[in-house]
Amino acid sequence: MSERPPTLPQGPSSRLCLRLPLPSLPIGRSMALTLDDGRPALLVMQPDGPRAFLDRCPHQGSRMLTEDETGDPYMDATGGLILCHHHQACFEPHHGTCISGPCVGQRLTTLDVERVHNDASPAQLLLWEAAVEK
Ligand code: FES
Repeated sequence: MSERPPTLPQGPSSRLCLRLPLPSLPIGRSMALTLDDGRPALLVMQPDGPRAFLDRCPHQGSRMLTEDETGDPYMDATGGLILCHHHQACFEPHHGTCISGPCVGQRLTTLDVERVHNDASPAQLLLWEAAVEK
């Protein structure tokens, strides 16, 4: 996570894909998000700040969100790994690398997370996505 002024202009190498109020998530917990263009994403709270990824498993391109509403929407029971509930791929939550399951070594698509705040408004998170070269 980085600190930048809230008026940062959109650069050629990245684009803003979501602005949201800073959530109060405990460490090891996650939440589902919908990006401005409608794609699903997830936010995972880590000791050094939140991480964000597209909700698209590199194994088969499926959403990873569990429909079991009794637990965390993305994290395993320990709160230490992101879990895809289709075939149990486990991803470490810092860089989104699969460490067990059917797609070991592949990665989730990372979104850059930026925390912004000023005296006039509550803290927000900005999620940035690397621009795709055409
Ligand atoms: S679709 Fe995620 S592990 Fe198979």
